[in-house]
Amino acid sequence: VIDVRKLYTEHGVFTYDPGYGSTGSTASAITYIDGEEGILMHRGYRIEELAKHSDFMEVCYLLLEGELPNAKQKAEFQHQITYHTMLHEQIASFYRGFRRDAHPMAVMVGVVGALSAFYHDSTDIHDPYQRMIASYRLIAKVPTIAAMAYKYSVGQPFVYPRNDLNYAENFLRMTFAVPAEEYKIDPVVAKAMDRIFILHADHEQNASTSTVRIAGSSGANPFACIAAGIACLWGPAHGGANEAVLSMLHEIGSVDRIPEYIKRAKSKDDNFRLMGFGHRVYKNYDPRATVMRESCHEVLDALGKRNEPLLALAMELERIALEDDYFVSHKLFPNVDFYSGIILQAIGFPTSMFTVLFAVARTVGWVAQWKEMIEDPTQRIGRPRQLYTGYGERPFLPLNKRK
Ligand code: ACO
Repeated sequence: VIDVRKLYTEHGVFTYDPGYGSTGSTASAITYIDGEEGILMHRGYRIEELAKHSDFMEVCYLLLEGELPNAKQKAEFQHQITYHTMLHEQIASFYRGFRRDAHPMAVMVGVVGALSAFYHDSTDIHDPYQRMIASYRLIAKVPTIAAMAYKYSVGQPFVYPRNDLNYAENFLRMTFAVPAEEYKIDPVVAKAMDRIFILHADHEQNASTSTVRIAGSSGANPFACIAAGIACLWGPAHGGANEAVLSMLHEIGSVDRIPEYIKRAKSKDDNFRLMGFGHRVYKNYDPRATVMRESCHEVLDALGKRNEPLLALAMELERIALEDDYFVSHKLFPNVDFYSGIILQAIGFPTSMFTVLFAVARTVGWVAQWKEMIEDPTQRIGRPRQLYTGYGERPFLPLNKRK
């Protein structure tokens, strides 16, 4: 490991690495990825094991605390999270300031950022107790905020959290329940929702997490930092990809049109890319995509949508791409977003909510990474250098002398 700090201060040298492909911004003990082998582990546990045997609350605890909880710790943590699910009532009126057709991600950026205006006490980043409360508040309130963003967009009344339900069940109910009608939670759907949250919980120094860390490195409060992460996640090259995958599948429309789109994805004269394919770190199958594909089949079977044409189209697209020389030589495999949109649509979420769900799940990862950074005594403000390519010094021209 080269100490870049010394390179610059002692030799006036710095590394030029657009996109930070080989620049480590931090040391972290939270998440490990081996992109060549397609391995993802949180605190030493494989994502496949966590998705199969654990649940989202345990994974949250693991990411934040470093260990899986015992029964007492799990009960206490769950209690803390459910205790903090409510929002201050004034936040409900805050929603009315948004246009009714606002994208729910725009609402998320605004409302999560505004939490710092409602919960001043936990903006003190130097107090470990307040850091913990801020973490609980964010993990607990983000699903409430997300469900309210959905309700607002469809013109239905907000549904308040119900604390006898688990995290995924509560979220589904806040999103889909309507007054005067009983909302029945489908256990297969609730399990799939929980698994989707696990699969998206953390992914080391991706763009949104790095955004959270950079924002936090200045001492900004956690609510502002997570709002910055949500804003970054929104982009189609990052969390917006699940929405883009579904639009792409709709655009392709039928199996016979796949070769045309594969051809476009390979062409250097066309900006089109196969959405849900490729990853900066994985040069092998994204292990989250494998679990997501299994879940996709389970959910569609349970909902009686086994013959969903989009699933058949996605599977055929994957098959053709994985046999194509371009995708093989570029090591482009399906990523986590490739199948998630199909499950989410089958559950009933509109595409505009897909990235919101990613944000709900990733909040714990952002919070864990933010806390790890704040608690690291070697932490300093994030400040990349640049390679200046502009003019050298030149004389100032008064307005009447300029062409
Ligand atoms: N379709 C076609 N070609 C692709 C794709 C794709 N999806 N992804 C990468 N490539 C090609 C590029 O054209 C480039 O080809 P070249 O070397 O011949 O010029 C090569 O693969 C490397 O691509 P880069 O853009 O340099 O790779 P980078 O690591 O910067 O990008 C990214 C990774 C953004 C994920 C990219 O693969 C992509 O745009 N994928 C589609 C969007 C997507 O699915 N994003 C979700 C990411 S996962 C997540 O956020 C949870």
